[in-house]
Amino acid sequence: MANRYAATYAQWQADPSAFWAEAAGAIDWFRAPAIAFDGERGVYGHWFPDGEANTCYNCVDRHVAAGRADQPALIYDSPVTGRKRHFTYAEMLAEVQAIAAVLTDLGVARGDRVIIYMPMVPEAVFSMLACARIGAVHSIVFGGFAANELATRIDDCRAKIVITASCGIEPGRVVAYKPLLDAAIEIAAHKPERCLMLQRPELEAPLVSGRDVDFTAAVARAKQGGLTVSCVSLRATDPLYVLYTSGTTGQPKGVLRDNGGHMVALAWSMKHFYGVQPGEVFWAASDIGWVVGHSYIVYGPLLNGNTTVLYEGKPVGTPDAGAYWRVIEEHRVSVLFTAPTAFRAIRKEDPSGSLIPKYDVSSLRALFLAGERADPDTLQWAEKVLQVPVIDHWWQTETGWPMAGNPLGLGLLPVKHGSPTVPLPGYAIDVLDDAGHPVAPGTLGNIVVKLPLPPGCLPTFWNADDRFRATCLAEFPGYYKTADAGYIDEDGYIFIMARTDDIINVAGHRLSTGAMEEVCASHPDVAECAVIGIADAVKGQIPAGFLVLNSGVSRESSLIEREVVALVRERIGPVAALKTVVCVKRLPKTRSGKILRGTMQKIADRQEWRMPATIDDPAILDEIREALATRGIGA
Ligand code: COA
Ligand code: AMP
Repeated sequence: MANRYAATYAQWQADPSAFWAEAAGAIDWFRAPAIAFDGERGVYGHWFPDGEANTCYNCVDRHVAAGRADQPALIYDSPVTGRKRHFTYAEMLAEVQAIAAVLTDLGVARGDRVIIYMPMVPEAVFSMLACARIGAVHSIVFGGFAANELATRIDDCRAKIVITASCGIEPGRVVAYKPLLDAAIEIAAHKPERCLMLQRPELEAPLVSGRDVDFTAAVARAKQGGLTVSCVSLRATDPLYVLYTSGTTGQPKGVLRDNGGHMVALAWSMKHFYGVQPGEVFWAASDIGWVVGHSYIVYGPLLNGNTTVLYEGKPVGTPDAGAYWRVIEEHRVSVLFTAPTAFRAIRKEDPSGSLIPKYDVSSLRALFLAGERADPDTLQWAEKVLQVPVIDHWWQTETGWPMAGNPLGLGLLPVKHGSPTVPLPGYAIDVLDDAGHPVAPGTLGNIVVKLPLPPGCLPTFWNADDRFRATCLAEFPGYYKTADAGYIDEDGYIFIMARTDDIINVAGHRLSTGAMEEVCASHPDVAECAVIGIADAVKGQIPAGFLVLNSGVSRESSLIEREVVALVRERIGPVAALKTVVCVKRLPKTRSGKILRGTMQKIADRQEWRMPATIDDPAILDEIREALATRGIGA
């Protein structure tokens, strides 16, 4: 196939509005948009401002009407419970209709917010679609977050209803959701009116009378009643969901997603980037709590008429490092998307890929990796053992779909390991120095995207236009700041090297070290602290905390370290994965009092480092090195 990337990118550059207006043809509109982009409205403009449509209709109803009623829409595969289920598009429609009826009955209406705090079960996906159907705005909270994080989100979006389950299942441990939900509602200033509780047989939860409603019973009643709930005609600019992601403070940012632009962008990406045909099986091995799950477990594949796989398991240990190959064989997966960390975990257990030949993985055409930097070593290993293109691509919660990648659907470009290849249509990507001047090819700088962002990207933060402007748009006028640092080479290939803020990427999960520092500092014996991300062979990065205790504290420092580890787990959740905490006498600082986190990280990662000229007391770095050495970290 002739490579169509250059021509397609040039076509977009020549007339972005015409490009996206044409792409909008992939969507069934209730009212087709006459205007592609209105730069006068919103923070930086709005896509398809006069269009009307419904995301659930486009994901479900129209496929049923167009002959896909009997095609599997969703395959639930759960090695942690031993359950598997197939739902056709027609069956999915029935489930979504029933949940939509239950929500309507509970008084949920267009524009109301619904928090979904659920594990990887089909009911979670159906609940998302049911919200979309009636115009309610869903906000999913990842199961690995603690009560406090759930409470922050309930308060910020003022959720009317919480849809939850009695438990999640982690290998070797059943995670009870009910105590977390109760604690969150207790902490939150805003109280949701009702909670819909899906009881799972592994651990049932007692219902709170007057507040909790049994999910399964309510859905069964709705099905019996046979009520149909039609898809509400929504403005393209109406919100579909809010997804909270780590910012530089403990207060997460509510990334807002609209309906129209989101559908257009995802539908375009499925065909032209991932190169997937309707009817094929697409598997994003992530979690619906993350943006990858929103875009490529749920909305993207369903918009495109694919069969999506919902996998409640891990790459290793459920039961072994052959789990992914088993799923590919059993469900004839065409395209797999996961985070590099999953492949590092598999490789650690099965370095030669000896489990692969035990399965028939011939259906697999390509592997896509994102969520964190794909280290060339892991990428090349995956290429070798799978013998299919392995495609690194780069994006973030804010953008909702890839900013850069090697577009399988347009024809693959030559691979440069370590680079997610080229910008996709929609994204004019530049690298600027701190003063906002473009840098020469090959020079490291701030990676920015020229405004307006394309359809599908966030129009703003939930109820926080000013925070959006201040965080993302103010530093480099005319650009969106990705907060990633990197460079573009002479051939136009992008290299993503680091974050410019305090975000670290732990097993593909985006976490704020600032948020962890806030928790560490709240321990009564801690005077000051620093949390940094250090290199980890499987997770990419893991957090490490340094504590300076208040003078006069006589308790064992190891005890305080354990308490701080427990506190972070309790306040942020197990997903924070802060396990290394050391007490030190002092923190290294510049003369102006800035903690030298970068230097500490280099020491921990055994990278070359130079004594900062502004350091207050060089001897402190030796103390840090010694403290790390006691934990087997650094040189
Ligand atoms: N609910 C409750 N707890 C959860 C959870 C959830 N949904 N997800 C993770 N956790 C817990 C884990 O059980 C673990 O707890 P522990 O400290 O008691 O062991 C902790 O959070 C850290 O989890 P994780 O970072 O996932 O580490 P892990 O050691 O359990 O697994 C991998 C490591 C690589 C196998 C795992 O991260 C993985 O499957 N990654 C795949 C990629 C992925 O999904 N990325 C998401 C973005 S694309
Ligand atoms: P999230 O919002 O959780 O998807 O995290 C987004 C961040 O993960 C990005 O801003 C990057 O820092 C990092 N990231 C995602 N994909 C890649 C990639 N392919 N290469 C390097 N970093 C990536």
